[in-house]
This record gives sequence, C-alpha cells and structure tokens, in this order.
Amino acid sequence: QLKKTDAVPLLMSWLLGQESIVCSDPTTVAAKLRKMVVGGAGKTVVISDFDYTLSRFANESGERLSTTHGVFDDNVMRLKPELGQKFVDLKNKYYPIEFCPKLTMEEKIPHMEKWWGTSHSLIVNEKFSKHTIQDFVRQSRIVFKDGAEDFIQSLDAHNIPLVIFSAGIGNIIEYFLEQKLGAIPRNTHFISNMILFDEDEKACAFSEPLIHTFCKNSSVIQKEAPFFHEINGRVNVILLGDSMGDIHMDVGVERDGPTLKVGYYNGSLDDTAALQHYEEVYDIVLIHDPTLNVAQKIVDVIN
Ligand code: C5P
Repeated sequence: QLKKTDAVPLLMSWLLGQESIVCSDPTTVAAKLRKMVVGGAGKTVVISDFDYTLSRFANESGERLSTTHGVFDDNVMRLKPELGQKFVDLKNKYYPIEFCPKLTMEEKIPHMEKWWGTSHSLIVNEKFSKHTIQDFVRQSRIVFKDGAEDFIQSLDAHNIPLVIFSAGIGNIIEYFLEQKLGAIPRNTHFISNMILFDEDEKACAFSEPLIHTFCKNSSVIQKEAPFFHEINGRVNVILLGDSMGDIHMDVGVERDGPTLKVGYYNGSLDDTAALQHYEEVYDIVLIHDPTLNVAQKIVDVIN
C-alpha cells in the first residue's frame, strides 16, 4: 500500500530536475516535506507575501507589472499628473535603495520609513475615496501569477489558513481578491498597511504600526497574537516570498515545526551574489517563475 510520504521523493526528483529551480540542500527540504505530509492539512499554515510573490513581476514582454502601492502611481499619473509624478519620483529615488547590495538593512530602514511615510501622507492628504481606490484597482496592472486563484481556493477548500503578510497596502489586496475571486476566501488573514476611512469613506489615516520591507517580523505582529494563538495547532509553515525582508514572516507561529521557505527570485541572472544569497536563505529558489505551480505541488502532497 502506498503511503502519503511516498509522494515526497517524487516531488523532490521533479524539483531537482527543473533548470529554473534551485534547491541547495535537498536532504533538509525532503525532511521538512515529510514532516509536513505526516502532519497533513490540519497542521499547515501558508504565510505569503503579496507583491511579486502572489502577483506577477513582469508580463510576457518583460515589462514590470504593478505593486499594490504602484496602483496609485499609474492611476494618479493619468488623472492628476502633478501628484502622480510625486509618487513616481519617490519610487525612482527609493526603489534602488531598497535593493542596493552595498547598503545594510539598518542603513536602508530610515529610507524605507521615509518612502512609505511620504507616499501614505500623499494618499491621506488627497482623501481618496474607497470607491475611487476600488476603481484604481480595477484599472491597475496588478496581475495574479498563473495558478494563484486556484492555489488560494484550494487552500480554502482544505481549510488551510493563508496569511497574506504584505508591506504593500492591504485594502488594495482585498479589493483585488474581491474583483478576481468574487469574495475574499474565509481562510485568508491580512497583515498589512490598511487605509482607514472616515464616515464619508474617504482615506483619513493608515493603520499602525507601519509595515515596510524590512520590518516584516516580530516588530509588527504584536497585535496579531490572538490570531496566531487561534491557529496554534498549525505547526508547519509554507512561507512564500520574493525578498530578503520576507524570510522571517513566520515569527508569529507558536511551535517548533518546520518552515519550508520558497523564494521567488525576480532579479538579474548576472547578479550571482544576489542569487547565491537567495539560495542561502530560501529552501527552494524559483528563478523568474510567473506561476504558483511549485507552491501548489507542495500543498497537493500535504493534502
Ligand atoms: O513586502 P512587499 O513585497 O509586500 O512590499 C511591497 C513593495 O512595494 C516593496 O518591495 C516596495 O518596492 C513597493 N513600494 C512601492 N511604493 C511605495 C512603497 C513601497 O512600490 N510607496
């Protein structure tokens, strides 16, 4: 009789056979997968980044697609070019700092606080309405990775919680999911920056604490303690991310089970140092992968 864990060597040999997948320590990955398969869906939680992890980095022609914040850059540029240019100038100034290989995380943090803080002030000062922002999302260049809808729905069908931990804007993710899936699946929980609206449904503030790329860790999840307590039987974590800031998103989980870290590498193939860094911190590195196939295959062997 076939055991559920028999699927693990099959998945491993598939992973190791793919040119665009790097798995530098297959023994550890196989051991984590076996524990997860034995635990099954009931012991699993998926913690995922949103921008360029659940969403696509580039379209078929190689053009960069939008992040959740980028929804403002594009739409405001169209309607109010002067304000739109301010969003674009901020991105041109701070994005290179976010990914600069010469700066340490500590050196980058004040710049990230400035970037997020300034762009959030622009949004609040403009008092964008909820309706306008929903329209912006409808017209945005945020695109799901191939298979993302099915992935999210299959987690819901198997009662596996999906924590979307994003330094982007949570409301934009909510509106995007509502527009693409019809509704936000019950299993989904957000840890993100939320736009707060006044009684006229105009943006009036952002939630605290501010979440930027380099504080997706214990510093911002204090208020999430009740949620993590509620799911405290879920000791096995599948973590999906695309940046160095994503690797500690599992800090809220109360347990000593494994975290399988899957990293989407969107950088240049010539940047061997960056790629090597990803291989050190992520169990499985997916190079320029526009799909959620690997995450789906992992969930399929666990179910
Ligand atoms: O961690 P996550 O991928 O969710 O981070 C959101 C991304 O949004 C950052 O990597 C940053 O490049 C981007 N961003 C942006 N405009 C801002 C602030 C952040 O595009 N105003």
